Amino acid sequence: MKKLKIADGIHLLTMNVEDILFEGIWELANGVTLNSYIVQGDKAAIIDGVIGWDGVPETLYRSLEEIGVEPQKIDYLVVNHMEPDHSGWISNFRKIKDDFTIICTDKAAKMVASFYGEDRIRIVKEGDTLDLGKGKVLSFHPLPNVHWPDTMFTYERETKTLFSCDMFGAFGRMGDHCFDDELSLDESDFFESEGIRYYSNVMTTFTSSLRKAIEKAKALEINIIAPGHGPAYRKNPQKIIADYSRFSQYAEGAGKNEVTILWGSMYGMTAKAVDHVESILQREGVKYNKLELPLESDSEMVATVFKAAGIIIAAPTYEYKLFPPVAAALNEVGRKKITGKLAFRFGSYGWSGGAEKELNEIIERNKMKWDFIESVEFEGAPKQEDLRRVEAGVLALIEKMKEKVME
Ligand code: FEO
Repeated sequence: MKKLKIADGIHLLTMNVEDILFEGIWELANGVTLNSYIVQGDKAAIIDGVIGWDGVPETLYRSLEEIGVEPQKIDYLVVNHMEPDHSGWISNFRKIKDDFTIICTDKAAKMVASFYGEDRIRIVKEGDTLDLGKGKVLSFHPLPNVHWPDTMFTYERETKTLFSCDMFGAFGRMGDHCFDDELSLDESDFFESEGIRYYSNVMTTFTSSLRKAIEKAKALEINIIAPGHGPAYRKNPQKIIADYSRFSQYAEGAGKNEVTILWGSMYGMTAKAVDHVESILQREGVKYNKLELPLESDSEMVATVFKAAGIIIAAPTYEYKLFPPVAAALNEVGRKKITGKLAFRFGSYGWSGGAEKELNEIIERNKMKWDFIESVEFEGAPKQEDLRRVEAGVLALIEKMKEKVME
């Protein structure tokens, strides 16, 4: 665990977590950080928490003492969000001190009680404050449905630090650089990409609430954004606010100037047309991501569909329906409420069609409002005429994508 000072009286404690399924679902290729913060006045508060504190009281004592915090002076645990990646440490903390007060919203209080049996809770509402002494005053700002209904921002007035919890977070393990001004260009690109993975995997379902949170952040004077996952922003906190604003547009159909090909093939007939599509995209100088299903992880699939301005679905009919791994992927994208994408589908069939019917059902059922270029289906292997029709579809997609591009 790393311990870093982020301002006078404020420390970041962060650790990398690898080899987990986040929320029990998302396979994270590059890990995730869990951040917590300690704010010290005459009294001290811990904001959010870190799973993985090993539960040994001496280790926690040592970590706190190394940053000059007396554990006995920690009177408040601020739970910005009850999800256990931020609150799962409460029972461990009780091993070193048991007369603390939990600060959280009313919705979090109910869950804190049911998950941990805690009842020493102070419920806060919009604008409530907690004076820790020595100039450190925390204010609280509920953000329902960012990500769960219980979430809130905590804001420290003296240093103008926003403890934003899930909001403005990113996946991706951190090395030695934990602040935006320390990141190299490559590291900055890495965290933008991992921010997209995080937003699309965990947050995109709540995009309308996230937009309200962006407005709430804009109304505060902010020097530092200190999220629960990923780097902290002290040089240019506006950058992550702008990134999140753009991601919220990706959720509703905008995207980077790139195409994502979501494809699967039973015996290589649809794959022949995919090869043809690749040669067209290369010829036209269009960046593309090619994801073969079912080999790709859901985390990568959702993120890569989310960020692209154009989607190509290449999938055959399988037992009168859409090739199942592609159908499952699109259902997942629909559950995530990724709407308004521009798309083109083609695929092979043997003795019967049916893929197109199920595709339409998935799009309708999930209210995805995707805009489709007319699909191309072919019997068995694609013939020259079929490849010509596929090419026309790809070119139409490339042309129409221009309306969707937002870098
Ligand atoms: Fe980082 Fe919603 O948990």
